[in-house]
Amino acid sequence: MIPETAKKFAALGATIAIEAGAGSAATVSDEAYAEVGAEITTAEKAVAGADIILGVQAPDLAALKGAKPGAWVAAIFDPFGQKERVAAYASAGLEALAMEFMPRITRAQSMDVLSSQSNLAGYKAVIAAADAYGRAFPMMMTAAGTITAARVFVMGVGVAGLQAIATARRLGAQVSATDVRSATKEQIQSLGAKPIFVEDVAGIEGEGSGGYATEMSKEYQKAQAALVSSHIAKQNIVITTALIPGRTAPRLITDAQIATMRPGSVIFDLAVSQGGNVEGSVADQVEERHGVKIIGFSNPAGLLAADASALYSRNLYNFLSAFWDAEAGKPVLDEEIGGAVRLTQGGKIVNERLKS
Ligand code: NAI
Repeated sequence: MIPETAKKFAALGATIAIEAGAGSAATVSDEAYAEVGAEITTAEKAVAGADIILGVQAPDLAALKGAKPGAWVAAIFDPFGQKERVAAYASAGLEALAMEFMPRITRAQSMDVLSSQSNLAGYKAVIAAADAYGRAFPMMMTAAGTITAARVFVMGVGVAGLQAIATARRLGAQVSATDVRSATKEQIQSLGAKPIFVEDVAGIEGEGSGGYATEMSKEYQKAQAALVSSHIAKQNIVITTALIPGRTAPRLITDAQIATMRPGSVIFDLAVSQGGNVEGSVADQVEERHGVKIIGFSNPAGLLAADASALYSRNLYNFLSAFWDAEAGKPVLDEEIGGAVRLTQGGKIVNERLKS
């Protein structure tokens, strides 16, 4: 929570307790929270009286000792990767609300943490890649000669990919991009980049169900690999963002393909924490293969902590305030959104996506 949303929650009638130092990494002081009427206390005391506990990453149960049975915990849960933690929340009688399960419907756009954080991640990936690249991005005509524009290839054009394209374009790069969903072709063009698409095998029509991709057929994967092989050798920077919900990220770049790139090129694998799009990427490391740097920061939005916190905090506020029931003095969730984000209730795992 940032002070701005603490103030708004207070205006709804909530009382707020904040763990001392909670905002320090995002440059928010305890005093700034105290000024808007929040109580600054220990995490243990903040949790003990709370009806609703807000977090960034969902805490392990040990940090929630003393939480009231039935208390809500709204946070990022990584529900598919942290099944044991979800089960522990159910056993403890807590109601886990996974912010990354927010449905992709118009009404929930302002509550969507995947969008708000992916947007920052896409921006930061380009900035970090530009920093690691030993050359300039824009074309420069100088008295000492011409510098050619960097060639940037973005793989996966969802929220992060679109921002990566826009950022690379602003820096003056020549940008191309690819995706499996056909609707992204026009989006790529509208940002002034060149679409590079598999043409002879059908991809996913339009936006894809809920804006999500699925695993592609073997035939498509083969055609995509051939396309990447012919394109990647000419690229200086590659940003990969491809994800499939609930599954390991698709492998898009092999070691053999990296070997064809010019030494000094940079790859940023934004999917590293879901298994990675790039062979040889390692979470939170910069690896070097065939003279190519492979960056694998797992939480790039966290490198823009002040903006990441502000947007995340507004997502949480937009979510809870939309359902605030003045009489009950707390939010009362509906089925469409509540049912989508709720993982546990009444001692059980209740989310459909975790049952299949
Ligand atoms: P994501 O993070 O699930 O995936 C990133 C991108 O990778 C997607 O565009 C996906 O199609 C692509 N991808 C997956 N497998 C691939 C492969 N093998 N090769 C190449 N690309 C591959 O997607 P994200 O960023 O969460 O959003 C996807 C769409 O959903 C966007 O069109 C966005 O506008 C829409 N959306 C709508 C929201 C709403 O209406 N509330 C909220 C969030 C997103």
